[in-house]
Amino acid sequence: TLNLEVWEDKNDLYSRAEELFSAQLKNGATTFGLATGGTMIPLYEKLRNSSLDFSHCKSVNLDEYVGIPQGHPESYYTFMQHHLFEAKPFKATYIPNGVAEDVHAEALRYEDLLKSLTVDMQLLGVGVNGHIGFNEPGTSFHSETDVVELTVSTRSANARYFDTIDEVPKQAITMGIASIMRAKCILLIAVGEEKRTAIKALLRGDVTEDIPVTRLCNHPNVIVLTDLKMN
Ligand code: F6R
Repeated sequence: TLNLEVWEDKNDLYSRAEELFSAQLKNGATTFGLATGGTMIPLYEKLRNSSLDFSHCKSVNLDEYVGIPQGHPESYYTFMQHHLFEAKPFKATYIPNGVAEDVHAEALRYEDLLKSLTVDMQLLGVGVNGHIGFNEPGTSFHSETDVVELTVSTRSANARYFDTIDEVPKQAITMGIASIMRAKCILLIAVGEEKRTAIKALLRGDVTEDIPVTRLCNHPNVIVLTDLKMN
C-alpha cells in the first residue's frame, strides 16, 4: 500500500520525515537504507540536530558514482560523511566502492551484503525521469545491484555539483529495483515541481519499467512525502 502525505510547508514535511525515523527506532529498527541528493539535505540536517541515536544501527546507501574516489567532494561517500555520519555515528555504514578495481565484482559483493541484512526502512528520492537509486527508465524490475549507465537527463540534473557536465560520471553502482523492493518499508520524498510528472505516474498506478518509481505500487508499505498538491 501507498500512503501519500502532502505537506505544503517543507519544514513540516522534513519534521514528519524525522518523526518517521524516530518511530522506526522506537519500533526496534536497526538497519536503514539511505539516499543522497538535494532532497535529503534538509532531512539529514534535522537528524543531525535531533537527539536520535543511531550508534547501534547499520546503514546501506543506494548508490555511488563510478570513478570518483571517496575523498572527492562530490562522491556520495563524502556527501554522507558531511551531511550525516560525522555528526550521527552509526555502528556500520556501507556504500558501494566506485573505484573498486573490478566494479562488477563490487556490485555483486554489495548485493550479497544487502541480502545478509534486512532493511527496516529505505529512504528514496526520485529523479525527474522517475529513476530510483540510479535505475534509469527501462531498467528491469528484477534488477539487483549493478554497474549502470547514467542518462543525459540525470547527468545534466547533477551537473550543478560539478564544474562542467563532462566531469559528471557516466556510470554508477546502484542497488537494483529488486534490491530496493526487499526493504520492509520505503520512505519516498519528492520535493519541487520538477518531480510532479514522476509522482503523478506513481499515483496513477500504471506500473511500467519506463518509469522505475511506479514499481513501488507493488510494495506492501510505502510512505510518500511531497510538497506537491495533487489533484
Ligand atoms: C540518490 C539517488 C537518486 C536521487 C534522485 C533525486 O542516492 O539514488 O535517485 O534520489 O536523483 O535527486 P535530488 O534529491 O538531488 O533531486
